[in-house]
Amino acid sequence: ASEAEPNAVAVPGAPYPVFTRQEVGRHRSLAERVWVTYGSEVFDITDFVELHPGGKSKILLAAGGALEPFWAMYAVHSQEHVLEILRGYKVGELSPEEPSQPAQGDPYSGDPPRHPALKVNSLKPFNAEPPAELLTENYLTPNQLFFKRNHLPVPAVDPARYRLEVEGPGGRVLVFSLPELKHRFPKHEVTVTLQCAGNRRSEMSRVRQVKGLEWGVAAISTARWGGVRLRDVLAHAGYTEEDEEAGERHVCFEGLDKDLSGAAYGASIPYRAAMGRGAEVLLAYEMNGEELPQDHGYPLRVVVPGVVGARNVKWLGRVSVSREESPSHWQQNDYKGFSPAVDWDTVDFTTAPAIQELPVQSAITDPAPGATVPPRELTVKGYAWSGGGRGVVRVDVSLDGGRTWHVAELMGEEQRPGRAWAWRLWRLTAPVPPDHTELDIVCKAVDTSYNVQPDTVEPIWNLRGVLSNAWHHVRVTVAED
Ligand code: MTE
Repeated sequence: ASEAEPNAVAVPGAPYPVFTRQEVGRHRSLAERVWVTYGSEVFDITDFVELHPGGKSKILLAAGGALEPFWAMYAVHSQEHVLEILRGYKVGELSPEEPSQPAQGDPYSGDPPRHPALKVNSLKPFNAEPPAELLTENYLTPNQLFFKRNHLPVPAVDPARYRLEVEGPGGRVLVFSLPELKHRFPKHEVTVTLQCAGNRRSEMSRVRQVKGLEWGVAAISTARWGGVRLRDVLAHAGYTEEDEEAGERHVCFEGLDKDLSGAAYGASIPYRAAMGRGAEVLLAYEMNGEELPQDHGYPLRVVVPGVVGARNVKWLGRVSVSREESPSHWQQNDYKGFSPAVDWDTVDFTTAPAIQELPVQSAITDPAPGATVPPRELTVKGYAWSGGGRGVVRVDVSLDGGRTWHVAELMGEEQRPGRAWAWRLWRLTAPVPPDHTELDIVCKAVDTSYNVQPDTVEPIWNLRGVLSNAWHHVRVTVAED
């Protein structure tokens, strides 16, 4: 069989060459070509390595062996189109004498139970959003309905053994148990909206395919978080307030959730965001007055007001200060925006800054797309929010596709100037335009910097489908009078 190496090419109609697992195992690098097995088939995926959406280093972990243990961890692969891509790289069959790959223990068996109302985008890892109509029923999103965005299995943390490591200046590491943290530092509470960078990605993928979870409009939620201030903890460790002389620095976070290579989920924020005067970044142990739920980072998570969800590291294990941003895949090679001209062949992640503050956003949550609405008067509901503490000054709503506009009524807590960390909910009741059997309802928000949402998706399309904040449209049918 091995004479088919090193560049086995399938001859149409001919049976595939047969390999042993040992032979496959010799192909573990780009130089030796990268082979993998799935079931009883052998694939040469060398040419796919650079195209892997999860990054080159991740796919190379499987080089020379079976895909199954990795696909059990990242169930996004269990889709027909992924198998189709794989089939294109088939170069052989495993010898029938080879024992089959042992069944994988499910790395997700320890994940917590979830609310049945959630709309699941991916089960393993668990990613889900509440139904849009429920999202704006409450100013504070109930914990069970709060959107959930996990990259890995939820780590099991024994509260008695839990320790937070904080690296001080010079590398001295302080270690805190949860009771020590609570006892040593004052408790603060702050209401913060978290939004995933991929919120509303499904609208972008309708323009052109993007890589990522198909979020609707509800990968955003709001909670009242309770915990200690990161700046108090860093000050205790020996760091001082903003220090212009010190040059650019970053506060790096590591989660306790690790991938198969042992790399933890990680992210960082600029030092000034944590240590600047009035910074309100929390190490939170409470969410809406309850103990932090498992899915949201039990026992401790970072909450960075005004900043994209990805930097709000859950199951926090370690905090450090560095000249460099977090080396994590999610800081370096994901969660960045690009021009619509950039595709997976040309993208260079080093050329774009990591997303921190998010742009102004709003969406309609009620009525639902395709609903039948009453003939005379209509109530439209939704949310609006902007990053960086910028408040929402106005939400404009149109019932005729953007030809004429109404101003919606803003509801929910008043926003503090420059510290508008949480959304406004909004509502508009208006007459249904006469002689319409269909309505194209549109909303757009304006923030305190007079930033507005772009009117269409096309010019902001990007290959990862992040920062999707164009005017939101909902098309409905008008009931006969
Ligand atoms: N922290 C860890 N440790 N692991 C993760 O997978 N996901 C991030 C962030 N923090 C993540 C994490 C992303 S992308 C988002 S949008 C938010 O958590 C989601 O927070 P939530 O699940 O509490 O809504």
